[in-house]
Amino acid sequence: MNLFDVYPLNDIEIVKAAGSTVWDAEGQEYLDLYGGHAVISIGHTHPHYVSRLTDQLNKVGFYSNSVKIPLQQQLAEKLGQVSGKTDYQLFLCNSGAEANENALKLASFYNGRKKVIAFKGAFHGRTSLAVAATDNPKIIAPVNETDNIIFLLHNDIAALNAAFTEYGNEIAAVIIEGIQGVGGIKEASVAFLQQIRSLCNQYNAVYIADSVQCGYGRTGIFYSHDYAGVDADVYTMAKGMGNGFPVAGISIAPKFKPWYGMLGTTFGGNHLACAAALAVLEVMEQDQLMKNAEEVGSYLIAELKKIEGVLEVRGRGLMIGIDLPESLAHVKKELLFKHHIFTGEAKPNVIRLLPALNLTKDHADQFLEKFKIALKG
Ligand SMILES: Cc1ncc(COP(=O)(O)O)c(C=O)c1O
Repeated sequence: MNLFDVYPLNDIEIVKAAGSTVWDAEGQEYLDLYGGHAVISIGHTHPHYVSRLTDQLNKVGFYSNSVKIPLQQQLAEKLGQVSGKTDYQLFLCNSGAEANENALKLASFYNGRKKVIAFKGAFHGRTSLAVAATDNPKIIAPVNETDNIIFLLHNDIAALNAAFTEYGNEIAAVIIEGIQGVGGIKEASVAFLQQIRSLCNQYNAVYIADSVQCGYGRTGIFYSHDYAGVDADVYTMAKGMGNGFPVAGISIAPKFKPWYGMLGTTFGGNHLACAAALAVLEVMEQDQLMKNAEEVGSYLIAELKKIEGVLEVRGRGLMIGIDLPESLAHVKKELLFKHHIFTGEAKPNVIRLLPALNLTKDHADQFLEKFKIALKG
């Protein structure tokens, strides 16, 4: 049997990892500024994470949601405290797409409506409604096509107002990333998020903050959307939540009332997933990783902005996009194969930095030095 060949692969096998360093099968060391696609939040193989998961595995790894799992309540309390949303409710699932799918479903159950506002450049996942709300026709199968999604220009307040004026009471939800990741590190403006909040209040629509990539402390605050000073009704999260263990969740405002069977999952909230997520929050809190993300991120952004040849530097904290001209499109590959630095990318020529939140200033300096050489090379 062969693998279903859907990923273009780099010819590298990673066999060991610690903090922001990984090693391949030949013993070559790499600096990891990609974090396995924004997933590694507290660093690879963090000792506290490894021991918490190992201890849990030696007790019980999985039992279904038909029994009490006190770790889920512990996780909810910790998440409420670290995110500053102590009165929200937690539903646990397994991936970012699933989190968004559940958030959209919840919104529609809540107000009985069908239409969803999403934005150009958005990525919300690959399951049916999440992919329909994703601005990439190539990955939307005919069965996922629906007239229920209204795509608007990102950060266009006039278009947002007009859509609410036209569809008003048909709109179930507005879903938006605080900073578009796949879309090339484009931040939603404060005024835009405030207007979403205000229109959702006016029309009883649900404001869904997709925090799958930009959330979980990456930008220096727990949910990057909260930078706008208004609360979302539902926050979706995944990537950094388990530092590589598949776990996702949605944080739900108090006004949503649950009923048995409204949402559900086999694997969501299992013992190991909760242990992983608790370990992440404990390390984030103990080592003040949001503060570090803010400080090292601000330093990197300021230094990158000084470099000649870069078109634009976007982002916040440790979610950074470096926009390069077409003539420098080779730089990302050169960083990986010549300088042994993992970075992410976005179309057409954006280098995406999504490292662990405990990236050190030394690591940042190493990257800056190699990046400058790669630009000249
Ligand atoms: C903003 C955003 N939402 C949702 C998803 C989907 O997450 P997953 O791949 O875990 O389903 C992603 C993945 O890249 C994402 O960046």
